[in-house]
Amino acid sequence: MKFLVTGGAGFIGSAFVRMLLDSPAAWSGPAAQRPTVVANFDKLTYAGNLENLAPVAEDARYRFVHGDICDAALVNQTIAETAPDVIVNFAAESHVDRSILSPAPVFETNLRGTFTLLEAARTHKTPRFLHVSTDEVYGSIPEPHDADENYPLRASSPYSASKAGSDLLALSYFVTYGMPVTVTRASNNYGPYQFPEKLIPLMISNAIEDKALPIYGDGMQVRDWLYVDDHCRAILSVIERGRAGEIYNIGGSRALPNLEVVERILDAVGKPRSLMQTVKDRPGHDRRYALSTEKLMRETGWQAQMPFEAGLRATIDWYRGNAAWIARVKSGEYQNYYQRNYANRAM
Ligand code: NAD
Ligand code: DAU
Repeated sequence: MKFLVTGGAGFIGSAFVRMLLDSPAAWSGPAAQRPTVVANFDKLTYAGNLENLAPVAEDARYRFVHGDICDAALVNQTIAETAPDVIVNFAAESHVDRSILSPAPVFETNLRGTFTLLEAARTHKTPRFLHVSTDEVYGSIPEPHDADENYPLRASSPYSASKAGSDLLALSYFVTYGMPVTVTRASNNYGPYQFPEKLIPLMISNAIEDKALPIYGDGMQVRDWLYVDDHCRAILSVIERGRAGEIYNIGGSRALPNLEVVERILDAVGKPRSLMQTVKDRPGHDRRYALSTEKLMRETGWQAQMPFEAGLRATIDWYRGNAAWIARVKSGEYQNYYQRNYANRAM
């Protein structure tokens, strides 16, 4: 099976590419559907890092295309040359805080980029298109509900609004053109190689460096944590057994308040809780995410395998063992972003 993966140099996309090429056990479907080609189309924004793909870079089945999913000519050329059986669209501007600071790139990539890919896939009659999305499109979920796939869309940030828009656009290609599109909506991912702007890698790397750990507001916002490899296996399950035109939620069934997550990190790294620093809240901050993953489990048999405690330990071990990776991604542009996002937040 030939895969075209967009955003494969980012956190989740690179885990997906490594899983496809590096761990045949991940592929539970028919042997005939094992990956023969994995093309990674990535713009290499601040979040894209080819180091994440070092374990598979020499694999004869792997190829890299440096490009922007908004570039229709290059997207069309890549699809024509690769003739993929499936396109998996991970490429996105993925960080809520950056989308609040500068919304324009979010709309460019997440909406126009997804549109460009869909049009090219329609032209080339690509047999499957999986659009990777997020539980953030449901907005804040009041207790005691869990959002299923029919829950209303109530996006709060420019990021989540752009993802909700791209989901609707992708699904419209199924309804209108009969294109075999599927949308997945996952909860908060964590694991190795995550860019240290998101909660868990930021807190781990700051704790390692004895830097303050910025807690937005009261820290009692709840997120459902999903280990990145469990997410990637769920995407494979949907490709193998999911139905076109459908949405599948992917959750880790492990909802925790941010404060508890950060306290666990400090304890595991062996640093004092005094490193936590309450800062001004994120505007439009969603209070609680909670997902029902029942449909995915029923239709594909997928289940999360990684318990949060073990996943967090593995993640902390990875960051401790990869100081050079952290130092490189935290240099340059990262410092400007950190300044812009955190400098005026002191309370
Ligand atoms: P990431 O920010 O780590 O990586 C994004 C990748 O997309 C990078 O490699 C970047 O270079 C690439 N990219 C950005 N703009 C591009 C463009 N115009 N053309 C081509 N490539 C481009 O993101 P991530 O955390 O790995 O998220 C991947 C996908 O999963 C996103 O669609 C995101 O919305 C979704 N998602 C993420 C999470 C999470 O917790 N991180 C949860 C649910 C869904
Ligand atoms: O739910 C899925 C989404 O999860 C994905 O679609 C997004 O791509 C991903 O970024 C993530 O969004 P969140 O906004 O939930 O993740 P983030 O790691 O930015 O924040 C998690 C929680 O931690 C949230 O309540 C805000 C809080 N937080 C975050 C940062 C960066 C802090 O308290 N301090 C911080 O410095």
